[in-house]
Amino acid sequence: VEPGQYLRDLFTQPVGSAVVARGWVKTVRSGKGVSFIQLSDGSCFADLQVVADPSVVPEGVTTGACLSIAGELVASPGSGQAVELQAKEITVLGPADSATYPLQPKRHTFEFLREQAHLRVRSNTFGAVFRVRNAVSWAIHKFFQERGFLYVHTPIITTSDAEGAGAMFGVTTLDLQNLPRTEAGGIDFKEDFFGKQAHLTVSGQLEAEIFALAFTNCYTFGPTFRAENSNTPRHLAEFWMIEPEMAFCDLEGNKALAEAFLKYVIQHVLDTCAADLEFFTKRIDENVLPTLEKVATSTFAQVTYTEAIQQLEKAAKSHKFEFPVFWGCDLQSEHERYLTDEVFQRPVIVTDYPKEIKAFYMRLNDDEKTVRAMDVLAPRIGEIIGGSQREERYDVLIDKIRKQELPEEAYWWYLELRKYGSAPHAGFGLGLERLVLYLTGMKNIRDVIPFPRTPGSADF
Ligand code: 4AD
Ligand code: MG
Repeated sequence: VEPGQYLRDLFTQPVGSAVVARGWVKTVRSGKGVSFIQLSDGSCFADLQVVADPSVVPEGVTTGACLSIAGELVASPGSGQAVELQAKEITVLGPADSATYPLQPKRHTFEFLREQAHLRVRSNTFGAVFRVRNAVSWAIHKFFQERGFLYVHTPIITTSDAEGAGAMFGVTTLDLQNLPRTEAGGIDFKEDFFGKQAHLTVSGQLEAEIFALAFTNCYTFGPTFRAENSNTPRHLAEFWMIEPEMAFCDLEGNKALAEAFLKYVIQHVLDTCAADLEFFTKRIDENVLPTLEKVATSTFAQVTYTEAIQQLEKAAKSHKFEFPVFWGCDLQSEHERYLTDEVFQRPVIVTDYPKEIKAFYMRLNDDEKTVRAMDVLAPRIGEIIGGSQREERYDVLIDKIRKQELPEEAYWWYLELRKYGSAPHAGFGLGLERLVLYLTGMKNIRDVIPFPRTPGSADF
């Protein structure tokens, strides 16, 4: 048996070809003197229709079973495909007891399927989600590699705190040979990483800045962790972030790159995942295809934070917001959604936020009140990108670190980058799952990552 032979390749082979098809059974129907099997191997949205004389169908051909089928491609009158497979010999590689197989050929709720993370990937919806996620990942690398960006692997275990975000997951040491026990019999965790306190990274940005100030342009693409205990459809404890960082780049360049980047990825998915997007448009959200086609070719809206607040204050006269709007407030998702869904009806880049609500590393504007920050907000989702021009001036940066009472010693190397060969630079972070939500019309972030990590879920 050779790897790399996919069902999707069979669809384009000529009628009369002798082939072997392998995959998992979606459904089986037995009519008078003929059985129909829908077979999938995940390589494309379409299932292969297999037609079989009941005499060649062995025991165990049920939903979920894994089959190998030898046969001949014949013209298909009604399956929506040019060809179907006339089975000559069917081998059951792995049966799936129909009395207990959890995925019956009917609609299941996404909540139920989340508890079946080992099997949900075989369903139409999750097949489409993970093909799109794969295409997005490829397009991201392609975009940056075509532009000469260096792919840098930033650490997962770290002592630096990029976002000053507060809650992080700590790293502990477990001596499996000699597990220290608490009095109650539990494991007594040693709270350190070889004698140092360390945690799982909340962002690779600070390390990416090291690379930008040596390789000019770089990007990270890896897992990121936030211990915020927020149970929302848009937050994960473990998510994937893409963080480009560019030397000799300011906020304008950063904005332009973010917009070009998102459009490139959207266009790639339109070009390579047509059948999956058609499915999402029909079954999940009718706006998916029309929206993506429009966004790929039109320009994003741009406003400053101050202008956005003016718009929102105006809106607050007739629209009821849960959270108050005033200059200096952090934009809540209801505010972001109002801007994208009501005011602009397309992605919006908001810039120049008050320094108090943004991270210490963002470059201070001449007004000394705002920083060179940018968030990209997407309709229906809210923030999908957060970024900024960085503070490259040593004196301004150290002043900020002190005023915010951050541990100055911990940032010694970050400060040295401003002492030795500093340069204007900028970058941003894209949450991969937020983008996949936008592209697929899916509603819950738990349904666009293979194994969601949220409060209360880490089973698989
Ligand atoms: O806005 P954030 O916190 O920015 C940073 O981490 C910067 N260091 C990025 C940079 O400038 N290099 O996070 C960036 C993006 C958000 O816009 C959002 O899309 C995503 O990461 N994100 C999350 N996605 C899922 N679950 C969470 N808990 C997320 N927190 C942030
Ligand atoms: Mg942010």
